[in-house]
Amino acid sequence: MGRSSKDKRDIYYRLAKEEGWRARSAFKLLQMDQEFNLFTGVNRAVDLCAAPGSWSQVLSRKLRGREEKGDAEVKIVAVDLQAMAPLPGVTQIQGDITKISTAEEIIRHFEGQPADLVVCDGAPDVTGLHDVDEYIQAQLLLAALNITTHVLKRGGTFVAKIFRGKDVTLLYSQLKIFFSGVTCAKPRSSRNSSIEAFVVCQNYQPPEGYIPNMSNPLLDHSYDVDFNQLEGPNRVIVPFLACGDLSAYDSDRTYPLQLDDSKEYQYTPPTQLPIQPPYQQACHLRRNNLLSKEDAPSASNNNPDSEKTTPGWTS
Ligand SMILES: C[S@@+](CC[C@H](N)C(=O)[O-])C[C@H]1O[C@@H](n2cnc3c(N)ncnc32)[C@H](O)[C@@H]1O
Repeated sequence: MGRSSKDKRDIYYRLAKEEGWRARSAFKLLQMDQEFNLFTGVNRAVDLCAAPGSWSQVLSRKLRGREEKGDAEVKIVAVDLQAMAPLPGVTQIQGDITKISTAEEIIRHFEGQPADLVVCDGAPDVTGLHDVDEYIQAQLLLAALNITTHVLKRGGTFVAKIFRGKDVTLLYSQLKIFFSGVTCAKPRSSRNSSIEAFVVCQNYQPPEGYIPNMSNPLLDHSYDVDFNQLEGPNRVIVPFLACGDLSAYDSDRTYPLQLDDSKEYQYTPPTQLPIQPPYQQACHLRRNNLLSKEDAPSASNNNPDSEKTTPGWTS
């Protein structure tokens, strides 16, 4: 497969490189902004699970350099488990959003002033076991919600990735406790074939007397089954909104490399290569022919073909 084949298969991947975004996800936030005006009046924003940083790029480009506001008022804090290349006007924290220490560090950066907007595009490494993936995704969203309850101002907005799996009704009901407006949004750049969507939660209004606490057992499966299913009159239904101009590209379609007759296609390299990708060690081991030796030292000593038979190794 040539390096241009992904450009053909994934139009948003290609546009992201051409427009200088670090990831195609940038379009998801931009298309949600078209519907919800997410950045109006926002000076302080938190980007949870931010690497490689395309949402932080969107925040930086949209919030900074506005005529009516000085950049000194703008504060953007980005958090991820992974290291991220620097971005103008973005403070980075390398940390786990499920940890109280990360919440405390974010709060410290805001120096007592609450954030206007919290966004979270967090995704675990998917296992392919749908129930497990949905459960971990839900836990990540709830960790983001917990951090949000510590840092978001009353009336503020929270946007987070959600998997529309079987526990989604419970998640909606929990979000409705904190926000008067909860909408499920599906940007055109998010494939229809994916269960990924986003919750846009507006007007943060925590319940009377609510004290933020990172150990809240929000999606606790010790609740009885009926509570988790929230059926009948208890079922929470939130509005569903497709976001993005109808003329926007369809992320499930394959487009020709030459989109415009007057402009010849030219390959554009990625805007920012990952600085410490999780697959780095595997690449190093493979390049130096160390994989089979590490995994099966005795087999590799005796059998010159052992690399081909080492369990778990696929080239
Ligand atoms: C889909 S990527 C985010 C892409 C990003 N919004 C962008 O536009 O470039 C998901 C990120 O979630 C991060 N992540 C997953 N679990 C996390 C956790 N517990 N704490 C912090 N980050 C986490 C991953 O490291 C990964 O970088």
